[in-house]
Amino acid sequence: MTDESAGVDADQEAGAADAEAVAAPNPPVRRVGDWDAARLRDLAEQHGTPLYVTDLDRVAENCTRFRAAFPDADVRYAVKAHTGRAVLDAVRDAGFGAECASAGEVRRALDAGFPGDRVDYTAVNPPARDLDGFVDWWRDDPGLTVTVGAADTLDRLAERGYDGRVCVRVNPGVGAGHHEKVRTGAAAKFGVPVDRVDDVVAAARADFEFVGVHAHAGSGIHGADDLAAHREFVSRVGDIARDAAGDADGDGLEYVNVGGGFGVPYRDADAPLDLAAVAAATRDALGDVDADLAVEPGRYLVADAAVLLTAVNTVKPAGADADEVVAGVDAGMTTLLRPAMYDAHHPIRSLAADAADRDAAPTTVAGPICESGDVFCEGRPLPAAERGDLLTVGNAGAYGYEMASTYNSRPRPAEVSLDGEPLRRREPLADLTRLEVTPEDR
Ligand SMILES: Cc1ncc(COP(=O)(O)O)c(C=O)c1O
Repeated sequence: MTDESAGVDADQEAGAADAEAVAAPNPPVRRVGDWDAARLRDLAEQHGTPLYVTDLDRVAENCTRFRAAFPDADVRYAVKAHTGRAVLDAVRDAGFGAECASAGEVRRALDAGFPGDRVDYTAVNPPARDLDGFVDWWRDDPGLTVTVGAADTLDRLAERGYDGRVCVRVNPGVGAGHHEKVRTGAAAKFGVPVDRVDDVVAAARADFEFVGVHAHAGSGIHGADDLAAHREFVSRVGDIARDAAGDADGDGLEYVNVGGGFGVPYRDADAPLDLAAVAAATRDALGDVDADLAVEPGRYLVADAAVLLTAVNTVKPAGADADEVVAGVDAGMTTLLRPAMYDAHHPIRSLAADAADRDAAPTTVAGPICESGDVFCEGRPLPAAERGDLLTVGNAGAYGYEMASTYNSRPRPAEVSLDGEPLRRREPLADLTRLEVTPEDR
């Protein structure tokens, strides 16, 4: 099924089929049709739109399912997917650690109560300010680990007096993922090239506590091709790890971290990821490496735990025969960037009370941002939109609020839990100029 054909009928069918899934304990997927329409309408009424609604119980369910597939792995949530405090709390309660992409994320993970020895900072071209912060916090929390992808980073850590835990990120030359922009495994930006790994590991062993080897193939591993690429990727990382562990002093490795990227079915026609198969392939490809397995799921834990609610404010006939519709909504690429950035598909469901009775029309759901890329979908069959309708954008929990911006001076949305607890306030307009130095201040 194509992006566009996954419309009303598919949504409704999925909704019916999924009624059973909702009743089942911890189903492997939650479709946009599974969310309680009345509840979402109430929340939109109370809190306004655009609004992220996050189901913290679903985060916990996703953690439970992930743990079952990787019972003995060291699981570190890639907090960049969703750093909201309530989500961090849910993941921490599940016993997972935190993988952080910046000093800011490290700070937020520590503040949320993740123990330092379960927090990794994956330092990609780390700004000086990040290294300063990280090293400061490490003095209080020596269990922190930094994952380095360049020899330079080791030098810069040593200059700051750091001699703590270091993991080396390698570039195994194989990537995977849903879009070229998220395939990191072979991108020169990330990790130490294979022919330089020995030197960097030797440097890490000499001046730091060298603990592991890390790589991340990319994001959105889902289909059979991705699984094959994942297997190849893990097998190469395993080879690199075996070499690194067998270093002359025989110190071995504490862990091999094969990153995240566990995909979720964004399209209604997509089957859920067979996590057990991925786990088995991972173990198999890693072979006899004598080290713990570490993994860093991001989206898998949070994507289907949130939806974005947005209201239709403008309806415009379009197309040669005026049989298409542009539904202008109050959320856009500043609220949820993934469609504009990666052409990502997000399921969209009309919450209009009579949606099921309306004819389907090829619909472009467009945001209020002055950019032609500011559309959530184009020509997708949806119940003919009317001004005032509420739409739900599904699978919005990962890289949703996190990538929100204030471009076009549009404040960021609010977020509430499905229980109605405010999680993030709507950004006030005044905050957009809070840091500005005006002539009156000078
Ligand atoms: C190093 C690293 N680990 C884990 C992840 C998580 O990826 P995903 O959310 O697809 O699981 C990312 C995502 O960019 C990453 O860069």
